Amino acid sequence: ATPRREPGLSRRELLQASGAGLSLAALPAALAQAAPAAVRSLKASAFAQAIRPGESTEVWGFNSSLPGPVLRYRRGDVAQIAVANALPRNAGTTVHWHGIRVPNAMDGVPQVTQDPIAVGETFNYEFRVPDAGTYWYHPHQMSYEQVARGMYGMLIVDEDKPIAVDREVLWALGDVKLDAKGRQVDDFGRLQDLGGGGRLGNVFTLNGRQAGRDRRLAVRSGERIRLRLVNTATARIFLLDFRGQRPLVVAHDGQAVEPHPLPQGLLLLGPGMRTDLVLDCDGAPGDTYPVIDRRDRGYQIATIAYERKPAVRSRALRDPLRIEANALPEPDPVKAVEHFLVFEGGLLGRPAIGMVDGKPLKIPEIMRSRGLSWTMNYVAEHEHAMLHTPMFTFRQGEHVVLKMVNETEFEHPMHLHGHSFRVLRVNDRPTRFREWRDTVMVAPRGSVDIAFVADNPGEWMFHCHILEHAAGGMMGTVAVE
Ligand code: C2O
Ligand code: CU
Repeated sequence: ATPRREPGLSRRELLQASGAGLSLAALPAALAQAAPAAVRSLKASAFAQAIRPGESTEVWGFNSSLPGPVLRYRRGDVAQIAVANALPRNAGTTVHWHGIRVPNAMDGVPQVTQDPIAVGETFNYEFRVPDAGTYWYHPHQMSYEQVARGMYGMLIVDEDKPIAVDREVLWALGDVKLDAKGRQVDDFGRLQDLGGGGRLGNVFTLNGRQAGRDRRLAVRSGERIRLRLVNTATARIFLLDFRGQRPLVVAHDGQAVEPHPLPQGLLLLGPGMRTDLVLDCDGAPGDTYPVIDRRDRGYQIATIAYERKPAVRSRALRDPLRIEANALPEPDPVKAVEHFLVFEGGLLGRPAIGMVDGKPLKIPEIMRSRGLSWTMNYVAEHEHAMLHTPMFTFRQGEHVVLKMVNETEFEHPMHLHGHSFRVLRVNDRPTRFREWRDTVMVAPRGSVDIAFVADNPGEWMFHCHILEHAAGGMMGTVAVE
């Protein structure tokens, strides 16, 4: 076997190798300098983007950029963002700050926390960002169409003392459905998508452009990279394989987790979910490693390509990788009241029965009459939200254990607004890390138990982040009063 490491470098070589003399200790300051001035406005509009090379696709998005601008803050900052709507087709919109524990009025949910922003209007969002981490933003109005068209961006909140890395890389993963001419297929909201696996695109995207083996992440031997990943797809679930590389998981959904290798070497990233990885680049100059999505016949979404340059450092870094935890209220399962949420429905499996206006109906009939395909606790009314009939009402400060039971043949990444929760058990087995999340995958015929302190007053969405499923009935609210 050939040795994979470069021989040790002299101090001078090291300095040269690190480019602008960027030492690791100086990095947080350097990052702060590199950060663009705070974005204070987002304008939603249609514009053209070359998603596939040589094509022009009309997308909807923010500030004529796909993904929208990265919003970056420090923990505790007050974010002020004026959202202006200049969309076509008279489409109203809102912006939801996914994963941020905002005050209810700033949550961006039409009919629940605000009226949709009409074309020509502006809404001023203002909220403190209490927690560091990787978050994202997207509309909550017709989200299965607006997010699919390109309305999303990342929102990053820096820790007071970030872990020391050479560089950060942001990957917004997703997909789009394009026709042969590169136009977005206008088939949003079909019943088979609402009641099936959701609307899948036919082109994978990485930061708004076609993903593939030619999307090269150029790295240097010896570099330490923090890779912030978000799945912005409405329905596609990624199962990422960094074959030949050994990234460590350091955070899920913005919240620190005990650093650990990927279980079975794979990262499950459902719609709405985020993961922070730290990649110690231990390959040799000239090496290439694929990043593969195992869920879709092994599609290669990117290549990690080692530059033919000397190593950035001669010895691997040993700095701790543990991210400082956010101050989230710790749920006590012993004190908690246990609640259950059962999902039924979908176009496969035993036909479910749901209550509509107090009357039991079979899902196919509900689909015909209401366009709904799913029930939560046997109710097939996404008017939960519109009617302000919460699925659960919690006392402020109540400790909650919520057991989700999936009686369907489909996966559901379930998202709670306004709170983060601990994942206690998956399929009745205790989890290894009891990790904090705001979106958790519930397997077909599986269950997930979560726990949280319902401390944020207001009416909060609780829904499947396969956005077609949300539109098809997997959307309700919980109230904290
Ligand atoms: Cu990311 Cu209710 O959504
Ligand atoms: Cu779902």
